[in-house]
Amino acid sequence: MTRRIVVGIGGASGQPYAQRVLAFLADHRDTLDLDVHVVFSRTGRLVWQDEVGEDAAQYGFPIHPPGDMTAPFASGSSRFDAMVVVPCSAGGLARIAHGLSTDLIGRAADVMLKERRPLVLVLRESPYSLIHLENMAAVTRAGALVMPASPSFYSNPTTRTALLDTVTARILDQLGIDNALMRRWSGRQAQRPDAPAAPPRPDPLPGGPVPPAAGGDPIRPWRGGPDAASVPAHPDAPAASPRPDPLPGGPVPPAAGGDPIRPWRGGPDAASVPPHPDAPAASSRPDPLPGEPVPAAASTSETP
Ligand SMILES: Cc1cc2nc3c(=O)[nH]c(=O)nc-3n(C[C@H](O)[C@H](O)[C@H](O)COP(=O)(O)O)c2cc1C
Repeated sequence: MTRRIVVGIGGASGQPYAQRVLAFLADHRDTLDLDVHVVFSRTGRLVWQDEVGEDAAQYGFPIHPPGDMTAPFASGSSRFDAMVVVPCSAGGLARIAHGLSTDLIGRAADVMLKERRPLVLVLRESPYSLIHLENMAAVTRAGALVMPASPSFYSNPTTRTALLDTVTARILDQLGIDNALMRRWSGRQAQRPDAPAAPPRPDPLPGGPVPPAAGGDPIRPWRGGPDAASVPAHPDAPAASPRPDPLPGGPVPPAAGGDPIRPWRGGPDAASVPPHPDAPAASSRPDPLPGEPVPAAASTSETP
């Protein structure tokens, strides 16, 4: 029986994942009996141009305009089997999470959720805000599957395409499409039966640069974090700026002509961070906790 699949392409980075999905579906259209429909968001079209650059029409699937609510999959009665949004932007996720059918991707996703059909959202954003996380929870509760565009390395991909396919294979799996795009995990020994014992590579931290990979650039160790000061500088690193480290405490000195940047005052050490000199005086009124009575303002006389 023909399987009908919607591929939504949102306005996030990660367009090469969409390209790999389309290429696989096009190659297997006849053998797997697939009926694939494609819709780009407006920004998705632009990001595709930047990151892929080729004409998506070459895959031979119908491509629907982003605002075309007359597309077949804009109605549940057309009974599409599954939909993937790849990549899915945080904005696209938010619209789907809130049922805003303001464009065809949003409407088609809404249809998949209401019809209880598989909807895979290949989210591409980093880091995540609480809003993103809550939207992910909302769509998950509604039946979608959130799948971050997060490549893996256990199959030892050695090319860009192989790395992309660590994500593409898992997307196709979730759409119920058999594929052999990546070597699958079948136990550590089975994974690399001929792997030689790991050489006794010296641990580069704390301190100097990681020895260069064969012919490659040295990798600089990360110099942030609590032990940053104890990590000696990479010998090739430019001389450190004389700009004093503003934390803990005072404001970051203004960038040339710019506003001072306020250090973040949350976190466990918030109380020990002195206030910014420009900050308004802190109110002496204690913050009531939820459920506690709000204390009377200073000017209010006590009721006898
Ligand atoms: C070049 C470019 C790259 C972008 N990359 C991302 C991204 O990786 N993740 C994201 O959530 N938004 C990204 N955005 C922003 C989204 O395109 C924007 O929020 C848009 O409104 C999302 O809606 P859409 O997915 O329906 O296009 C990018 C925008 C541009 C122009």
